[in-house]
Amino acid sequence: MTDTTGTTPLENLSAERRAFPPSAEFAAQANAQAELYERARADREGFWAEQARSLLSWSTDFSEVLDWSGAPVARWFADGRLNACYNAVDRHVEAGRGDRVALLFEGEPGDTREITYAQLLEEVSRAAGALEALGLGTGDRVAIYLPLIPEAVVAMLACARIGAVHSVVFGGFSAEALRSRIDDAQATVVITADGGYRRGAPSALKPAVDEAVGPDDDGTPSPVQKVLVVRRTGQDVAWTEGRDVWWHEALEAAPAQHTPVDVEAEHPLFILYTSGTTGKPKGIFHTTGGYLTQTAYTHLNVFDLKPEQDVYWCTADIGWVTGHSYVVYGPLVNGATQVLYEGTPDTPHKGRWWEIVAKYGVTILYTAPTAIRTFMKWGEDVPGQFDLSSLRVLGSVGEPINPEAWMWYRRVIGADRTPIVDTWWQTETGAIMISPLPGVTAAKPGSAQVPLPGIVAEVVDEEAKPVPDGAGGYLVLSEPWPSMLRGIWGDEQRYKDTYWSRFPGIYFAGDGAKKDDDGDIWLLGRVDDVMNVSGHRLSTAEIESALVSHPMVAEAAVVGASDETTGQAVVAFVILRAEHLDKVDEAGEGADVAATLRKHVTKEIGPIAKPRTILVVNELPKTRSGKIMRRLLRDVAEHREVGDVTTLADSSVMALIAQGLEKPAASSD
Ligand code: PRX
Repeated sequence: MTDTTGTTPLENLSAERRAFPPSAEFAAQANAQAELYERARADREGFWAEQARSLLSWSTDFSEVLDWSGAPVARWFADGRLNACYNAVDRHVEAGRGDRVALLFEGEPGDTREITYAQLLEEVSRAAGALEALGLGTGDRVAIYLPLIPEAVVAMLACARIGAVHSVVFGGFSAEALRSRIDDAQATVVITADGGYRRGAPSALKPAVDEAVGPDDDGTPSPVQKVLVVRRTGQDVAWTEGRDVWWHEALEAAPAQHTPVDVEAEHPLFILYTSGTTGKPKGIFHTTGGYLTQTAYTHLNVFDLKPEQDVYWCTADIGWVTGHSYVVYGPLVNGATQVLYEGTPDTPHKGRWWEIVAKYGVTILYTAPTAIRTFMKWGEDVPGQFDLSSLRVLGSVGEPINPEAWMWYRRVIGADRTPIVDTWWQTETGAIMISPLPGVTAAKPGSAQVPLPGIVAEVVDEEAKPVPDGAGGYLVLSEPWPSMLRGIWGDEQRYKDTYWSRFPGIYFAGDGAKKDDDGDIWLLGRVDDVMNVSGHRLSTAEIESALVSHPMVAEAAVVGASDETTGQAVVAFVILRAEHLDKVDEAGEGADVAATLRKHVTKEIGPIAKPRTILVVNELPKTRSGKIMRRLLRDVAEHREVGDVTTLADSSVMALIAQGLEKPAASSD
C-alpha cells in the first residue's frame, strides 16, 4: 500500500478500501451521534450558538452569532463577553469540581506533580496578579518561551485572565527567531525559565532570551521591559537587575485571589507565529469566544471526552497550535484530567510513552504520525511490554498518516479495538475541521474523511469548482467557522492575499486533497512552498534566507523531500561564492561546508529547520522569468528521474546538477 518512503502515492490511495466502523458498544456511549451532522446542516449558525452557550460560561450573552459583513474578517458572538481563564479554571472550582486533577505532570527526570483545578486556580490567580504588578493589562503582548512544564500552562492562562495576548514561542527556536517574534508583536514581557530537561540533561533557555532582548544589530532597543524567569533546573543564569524577575518570587508576592477580566468575544487571545511561503513568519491571531467554542466542541466530540473518567494525553508542545488548542484551552475548558510530559519519547528508554500511558491509565492519546512511524521503527515489542488496555480513542494530527502507520497504531497501540481519529486542521483554523467522529464514522486508514458538523470544506479545481468524487484538487473552506484566524498580526493585506486571493471569497488552506468514490477527503500535503517536517511547519523561503545570510553562500534553494520517518525532510541546494569553491573541490571539504551551514541554520531558526542534506551545486534550475523550479529539485532529492525540463531557461542545468551530485559534496546526519 505504501512506497518505500513511507508516504502514500496518490494513485494508491484509491486502492485503500479498508474501513473500521465503531463497535456497537462504543457507538452507543459516544458523545457525538450521527444526527449532529443533520442538526448542523439544518441551521449552521444556530448550531454554533448552541455549542457556544452549552460549552462556555458567558458573563454577557451574545445576540448575534456571526457577522460576516467585514469578510474575510469574521466576528463571532461579537457582543458577548467572557474570560478564557475563567472558563478553563474558575467555573470548574465554583461547580464543586476543584478536587479534580487538571494536570498530571511528568517531568523528564521523573519528577511529578499533580495539580487540581483548585490549585490551578490559585496559581493562575497569583500569576495574573504578578503580571499586573509588572504593569501589564488588556491587549498587551507577552512572549512565552518555556519548556513543557505546568508553569507554561499557567502563564498562558494568566495572560488570558488579565486580557493580555500571549505569543508562545517554541523553546526549540533560536534567539534570532525569538527576537523577530518579540519585535513583530511588540511584546513587553517575556516569560521564560532558567532551562528545561532534554534527553537526560538540563539545557539552558535564559541565554537565548538575554540575546533576543538585547539591542539588535542596528542598535534598536527591544520592546521588552521585564523578563519573568521560572526556576526549573536550578542552573546558574546571568541576571539583569531591574529587568529580570523570578517567577516564584513574583507569585509569592501576589494575592491568592484575582478577578478575571471580562473581555469581548472578539478580544485577541493569542498570537502564534507559523511559517508561510515567504521568509517572514506570520503572526496568526485568534480571538476569544469563537476559538474557545470550537476547541471545546471538537475536543469533546472528536475525542469522545468523558471529563469525569478519562485521562487524556496530547503529546504536543505548547509551542505549537496543537498545544494551544488541545493541551491548554480545549481540555481545560471541558474540565479534563490530562497528562503533561516534558521529555522525549526515548529518554531514559524507548518505552517511556507507554510507561506513562500505563502509569496514569491514559484513555485518549493524541499524537503525530512521525512519532508513530518512529515507534514502528523501534519495534512492537517496546509498547508490548506495557499495559495499554486503558486506551479507548487514538488521535493523529499534523501531517497525512500513511495507511501502514495507521494500521500499526490501531493494532499495536489500540489492540485492534480503539477508534482512530485522523484530524486535519491548521494553526489558522484554530481547531479541528476534518475528522471522523469516533462513534459514527467507519474510519478509513489514511483519510481524514469528513468535515465536522458545522464545518463546510470542499475539494475544488483551478476554477474553484468542486471536483467530482474520485478526483483531486485543492482543499478549501467555503464557510466561516468560529475558531478561524482573525488575521495576521499587523498585516491585514497579507491575510487577504495569503488565504483569500487564490479563490476569491473562499479560504484556501494550501493543501492538496482528493475525494474518493464515497466522497471522503484524503489530504495529500501542501501545494505551496511550505514543508511539513515531523508535523512541524517550515517554509522553504525562511530556510533559504537563513542559508544566504551566511557569507559563504551565493544562492540557495530548499525543498521538502519525502522521508520515511519525518514525512518530509529539508534538502538544500546551495551555490557557494567563488572564493569558497576551491575548498569544495578538495575531497572531503564538502562535508565541512554542509556542517557549517547546518549549524548556521540552527542558529538562525532552530534545530528543527536544519537541513537533513545540503548539496553544493553550480547552478539552480530556473524558468525564463527566474523562478526556481523546486519540482525538479524535489525529483533529484527523492532520487527520481527528473521531470519535464522544457520551461527551464537552460535545460542543461539539471544534467549539471546530477553530475555534481556524483561528487562527494553532500552530507547528511
Ligand atoms: O498540510 C496540513 C498539515 O499540517 C498543516 C498545518 O500545519 P500547522 O499549522 O503547523 O498545524 C499542525 C497541527 C494542526 C496543514 O496545512 N496537516 C495537519 N493535520 C493533518 C495534515 N495533513 C494531513 N492530515 C492531517 N490530519
